Amino acid sequence: MSALAAPAVAPAIAARDVVVRFGGLVALDGVTLSVALGEILGLIGPNGAGKTTLLSVMSGTQRPTSGAVFVGERDITRVPAYRITRLGVARTFQVVKPFANLSVRENVAVGALYGRHGMDRSARAAFAAADDVLERVGLAPEAKRLASELTLAGRNRLEIAKALATDPQVLLLDEVMAGLTPHEIDQTMGLLRSVNRAGVTLIVVEHVMRAIMGISQRVAVLHQGRIIAQGSPQAIVADPLVIGAYLGARYAKGAPHA
Ligand SMILES: Nc1ncnc2c1ncn2[C@@H]1O[C@H](COP(=O)(O)OP(=O)(O)OP(=O)(O)O)[C@@H](O)[C@H]1O
Ligand SMILES: [Mg+2]
Repeated sequence: MSALAAPAVAPAIAARDVVVRFGGLVALDGVTLSVALGEILGLIGPNGAGKTTLLSVMSGTQRPTSGAVFVGERDITRVPAYRITRLGVARTFQVVKPFANLSVRENVAVGALYGRHGMDRSARAAFAAADDVLERVGLAPEAKRLASELTLAGRNRLEIAKALATDPQVLLLDEVMAGLTPHEIDQTMGLLRSVNRAGVTLIVVEHVMRAIMGISQRVAVLHQGRIIAQGSPQAIVADPLVIGAYLGARYAKGAPHA
């Protein structure tokens, strides 16, 4: 490479040759995927394809059997999850995990204390940060309620709020629109767009194709633990391989998208 060549910009987050085995089951079978800084990547695929497992590997809650994960240029494959959070990677959980007996505000304040700026924050500052996030996600009116009292849409929103409170640079979203009404889906898409406009790189795992098509700059398709296609949303929905493996029943034939 020429000494004058511009330095390549490292991806915001990347997986390289990631394999995850659960006993005899191969959940991820050599996944290589890069997400550029500021990008919104949609990640789709059938049930059991390995989407949640990939988010778990990228956030450090699941160690890969082999392969590596990078945040920027840093190899985080063996970095503990709490440190990865401090490096600016947050994820939501498909099965939401609020502290049920804490208030909505307290749940989000915990995120603020354990996140990228958590070490520098007093409890008072964490609550102030939580209030900002609750305002952004539209949960401010519910701040004092117990997390266990929220509706499904509210719980999904709280999951996003907890992740945002860690001040992520990369946010991994696992089916945060599942079970929402079309109006709630629109609201969540608006929220994710505004989070992205503020500079956060997003990976959006979702079965709601209308949302994937509306929000993603690029879409990757997992099938049986392998990336079988990636490209623009338009190219992906027209790809015969993707239609055969996943979209056939739910999209190409005009089935309801939600
Ligand atoms: N902790 C685990 N132990 C054993 N098997 C697991 C574990 N986690 C996931 N699996 C298996 O790994 C495969 C991939 O699961 P994963 O949850 O990543 O799929 P997914 O694409 O997120 O599916 P869905 O769309 O249903 O959420 C599945 O066969 C699943 O049963
Ligand atoms: Mg999943």
